[in-house]
Amino acid sequence: MTRKWCVPLLLILGVTAPHAAGPTITIDMTQPSGKVSPRFYGLMTEEINHSYDGGLYAELVQNRAFLDDAASPVHWSVVQGEGAAATIALDRSEPLNKDIGVSLRLDVTQASTGHAAGIVNEGYWGTPVRPKTRYRASFYAKAAPGFNGPIAVSIQSDDGRTTYATANVTGLSRAWKRYELTLESGNVGPTAKARYVLTANRPGKIWFSLVSLFPPTFRNQPNGFRPELMQMLVDLKPKFLRFPGGNYVEGDQIADRFDWKKTIGPLSERPGHMAPWSYRSSDGLGLHEFLLWCEDMNAEPVLAVYAGYSLKGAYVKPGPDLEPYVQDALDEIEYVTGPATSKWGAMRAAAGHPAPFTLTYVEVGNEDFFDRSGSYDQRFAQFSNAIKARYPRLKVISTVGFEHPENQRVHSVRPDVVDEHYYRTVDAFLKAARGQYETYDRKGPEIFVGEWGAYETSFPPWDRRSQAEAPTPNMQAALGDAAWMTEMEKNADIVVMNCYAPLLVHVGPGARQWRPDLIGYDALRVYGSPSYHAMKMFSTHLGDEILKATATDTDVLVSVTRESRSRTIYVKLVNPAGADAPVQFDLKGAGTLASTATAVTLSADPKATNSIDAPDTVAAVTSKVAGVKSSFSYKVPAHGIVVLILEVR
Ligand code: AHR
Repeated sequence: MTRKWCVPLLLILGVTAPHAAGPTITIDMTQPSGKVSPRFYGLMTEEINHSYDGGLYAELVQNRAFLDDAASPVHWSVVQGEGAAATIALDRSEPLNKDIGVSLRLDVTQASTGHAAGIVNEGYWGTPVRPKTRYRASFYAKAAPGFNGPIAVSIQSDDGRTTYATANVTGLSRAWKRYELTLESGNVGPTAKARYVLTANRPGKIWFSLVSLFPPTFRNQPNGFRPELMQMLVDLKPKFLRFPGGNYVEGDQIADRFDWKKTIGPLSERPGHMAPWSYRSSDGLGLHEFLLWCEDMNAEPVLAVYAGYSLKGAYVKPGPDLEPYVQDALDEIEYVTGPATSKWGAMRAAAGHPAPFTLTYVEVGNEDFFDRSGSYDQRFAQFSNAIKARYPRLKVISTVGFEHPENQRVHSVRPDVVDEHYYRTVDAFLKAARGQYETYDRKGPEIFVGEWGAYETSFPPWDRRSQAEAPTPNMQAALGDAAWMTEMEKNADIVVMNCYAPLLVHVGPGARQWRPDLIGYDALRVYGSPSYHAMKMFSTHLGDEILKATATDTDVLVSVTRESRSRTIYVKLVNPAGADAPVQFDLKGAGTLASTATAVTLSADPKATNSIDAPDTVAAVTSKVAGVKSSFSYKVPAHGIVVLILEVR
C-alpha cells in the first residue's frame, strides 16, 4: 500500500491515523532538544574585494600615503588647465616620517588665477557626492621657499567642469604641517562621477602626504565607517565578528602578515602592508577600528592571531623561534582586554577606549591544514598554552576542523573549538543539510563554521572564471545557503558559531578576487544578495532553544527554534524544488497557539538575483498565515525560504 492511499482507507475504516500521512513536519514542543549557542550568527571579515579600502572604511582617497606602488603615484594624476603646467613624482628624499617613507612632489611650473595646476585622485572607482553633505578633507604638506599657498581643495565632476565643494588653505612652509578643512556640497544630485582635486594657482614646489577625504561616517566617528554599509551589517544582528581573516591574517609571506602593532595609533604612523589579495592595505582600518566596528554592531570580537604560518608556505618553527609571535598575540589580547593600566591596555585607552573589550574566543591562525610542514600541532599547542596560562577564561580555536583528516588535526592539546570552512555547491549543501552534524560528538570540541558559502557556478569561488560572473550569488545559491543554515541551527548546541564568507565586495571592475560575496557596493550604492536576505531572515528570528522537527515525505528542509521567554517559535523552511510543497504541521505539546502566524518569505526564480542597478529584485515579504493550530497545513512556495513565526498565548 502506498502512503497516498493510507489515510482515506483508514478513514473509511473509521480509524484515526496516528500521524497524518503525506508530507508532514512534526515539531516536538514538549522539551527543547538543545540550547542555541548565544553566538549564533556572526560575521567574518578580511581585506578582500576592497572590503575596507574602497568599502567599509569610509576614506575616499585611494593611495592616500603614496605607498601603493614603489615606482609611481598610482591612482593620482596631474590636473592642468589651459595656461597651466605641472609634474608629479614620488619623492623618497622628503618623507613625512620613518613610517611613511615617501611623499608626492608637485612641481607647478606655470599657473595663475583661473589657470590652476595640481593633483587629482581617482578615488575607489569614483568619488561619491551627495547633496548638502559635509566632507572632512585633510593632508600633510610642505613647500619650497617662495610658495605658501593657497591650495584649493575641491570635489569636482570628473570632467572638471563642475565644482561641487571647495575651500582654500594657506600658510604652507618648509615644515610638514597637517591641514584640515570642511568641504560642503550644495544641492547636487548624487553621483560617483567625481574627483578630489588639490591645486595651486601660482608656480611652486609642494610635497604632499596622507591626502584624505572622508564623507560623513557611521555615528560620525572620525576615521570611521561607511554608514549605509554599516547599517546593513547591523541589521543582521551579528553576535560576533571574526577578524582579521582569513588569508589576510597570514599574508603571503611572514613579513606580510597582519602585524597588528603597525595598524594602531595615528594614521601617520601606519605604513600599511601588502595584503594577500593582490593590493596593499592602508591599515586605516586597523586593530582598534575592528574593535570599534564590533562595538558599533553590539558584537563580540573573535580574534584571529597570526600563528607563524603564511600562505605561500613559510612557517616559523615551534619553540624559541615562535616565541616573539606568541608574545605578539598575548600583547594583542592585552590591547583588547587589558586594563587601561596595562602596557597595551594603555595604548587602547590613549586611542580613546579606556574600557576593555569583551573577548571570549581567540583563533590561532587560519586554515593551517595548508601547512604541509606538519608544524601546526606544535605551533597551536605553544600558542594555546601561553594564552591559557595568562587568560584562563579564553577559549582557543584550532583552524583544522573535522572536515580534515585525523592526522592533520591538533592532538598535543585539546582545542576548545575547531573551525571548519565550507565553500560548496548548492547540491552539496542540500545534501549536507540532511544530517552532517547529527553524528558529531556532543562532548566537543565545539564547532565554529568560520567560513561558508554556496556557489551556483560549475567552478569554485577562487577560479578565474568567476570574474565573468556577477559578484554576488543568485536565488539558487541562497537556497543552498538557507538549507545549510537549517543544518547549523538544528545543531546549534555543538555548532557554536558560524559566519558566511566573504562578506563584502566592491563591484567596480577589477576590484574583486572572489565570488560569491554577500553584500555588494560601488562608490555610492549598496545592495544585499538573496543570500544576504536569507541570512537576515535566519539571524533576526532566532530563539535560544532548539526544538526537534521531523520532516516526513517531503524534501523541505526545516529547523525550529524557540524563544524561551516569549515562547515565540521560529520555523525555518527551505523548499529547493520548482513546485510548491504542501506540508502538514503536527505540533506536539504546543499549548495554545495564536491562530494567526507571521510568514517572512523569500522566493524567486533560481536565476533571479540582485545587483547594484537592480538591488531589490529578490526581497523578503511578510504576510499573515491564518488557521494555525496544533495541526495545520501550509504550502512552502517553490524555490522558497520561509520563516514562520508562531506565537504561543
Ligand atoms: O574567504 C576567502 C578565503 O577563503 C579566506 O581568506 C580563506 O580563509 C579561505 O580559503
